[in-house]
Amino acid sequence: MTEPLLEVENVDITYRMDSEDVHAVTDASFTIDSNEYFGLVGESGCGKSTLAKSLIRGLDSNGEVTSGTIRYKGEEIQDFSEKEYNEKIRWKEIAVIPQAAMNSLNPLTKLSEQAVEIAGVHTDWSEKKAISRLEELFDIVGLPESRVTDYPHQFSGGMKQRAIIAMSLLLNPTLIIADEPTTALDVIMQDQFLKHIDNLREKRDLALLLITHDIAVVFETCDSLAVMHGGQIAERGTTKEIFSAPRHPYTILLQKSFPDARYPDRELEVIEGSPPALREEVDYCTFASRCPWAEQQCRESMPLADSLNGTDSHAVACFRSDEMESLASDHMNTNETRHANAIESEGYEDDD
Ligand SMILES: Nc1ncnc2c1ncn2[C@@H]1O[C@H](COP(=O)(O)OP(=O)(O)OP(=O)(O)O)[C@@H](O)[C@H]1O
Ligand code: SF4
Ligand SMILES: [Mg+2]
Repeated sequence: MTEPLLEVENVDITYRMDSEDVHAVTDASFTIDSNEYFGLVGESGCGKSTLAKSLIRGLDSNGEVTSGTIRYKGEEIQDFSEKEYNEKIRWKEIAVIPQAAMNSLNPLTKLSEQAVEIAGVHTDWSEKKAISRLEELFDIVGLPESRVTDYPHQFSGGMKQRAIIAMSLLLNPTLIIADEPTTALDVIMQDQFLKHIDNLREKRDLALLLITHDIAVVFETCDSLAVMHGGQIAERGTTKEIFSAPRHPYTILLQKSFPDARYPDRELEVIEGSPPALREEVDYCTFASRCPWAEQQCRESMPLADSLNGTDSHAVACFRSDEMESLASDHMNTNETRHANAIESEGYEDDD
């Protein structure tokens, strides 16, 4: 078996605070293979950016990986110094499209000058080489090569997004981490952005870690995914496995909270409540306070991610994953009956 490109193994991340620490990520594990497009999905505050930042030495100064291992191409990188990371990994191996990417380009510097600057720090390329590389990349993402000498403000929003993708590819990285790259865009631009990301696969070898709260985007774009809730990875697997047979209650409800072309008339699920504050070490299921199927043990101990059906890829951190297919189907039937009854009684009221 070939070695994964990135391995995240049992990672815990804590933010140190004056009063109480925040245990933002607990026991997170997943792998990304070469050329794989991998989605990390979950609602706001579940720890997606924290986990992503830990992969690139980008945690805020009060954040710390307190246990676990992060391996890139087989080498442990979680304890790399800034210098070591810059020399070996940043831009050349892993490049980032950050959350709020629209503001990530320096507004006062031409794109070509920004490319020269990055190449100057991380390679021995000449200015000419850096600029001609950027021109090639502009072509790949569908921007006119002549625009490399523009300032960021001369681009429209969609063009700026494409310029950011081009810039992230500058030093030919093997993995791109894109944190909520489409959140600031309207639906049409979101679609275009995702098409560009998708098209890149045909042009070069590239793995992607796509971070988003939108599970539908991940289903459309990624080969595999992990679903996070309250700092824990609730479920991970191939897109096919999770799309057709989700087995963690959060994934099941999350999937049903987004429109699905297979069920155009379905009422969208609302996940009531909010995740816990994570002020104490997490040794329970963080979905317990919102889960329709929670039992005592869910509040007293932490479910570990177990492989399902003997597959390596599909793993679920839920004590009741074996029963979930039938429990979820009963729940949906009850909800549909409740919905139908509500419509019927509204109809009676209208008749009065
Ligand atoms: N520097 C920090 N100090 C203390 N707590 C922090 C810090 N940064 C993030 N957190 C907390 O860590 C948790 C995870 O935050 P994170 O930004 O990783 O969430 P996220 O899933 O990326 O959310 P969003 O979708 O809103 O970007 C949250 O409870 C957040 O408030
Ligand atoms: S472990 Fe318990 S609370 Fe957590 S998702 Fe499973 S059934 Fe729900
Ligand atoms: Mg985030």
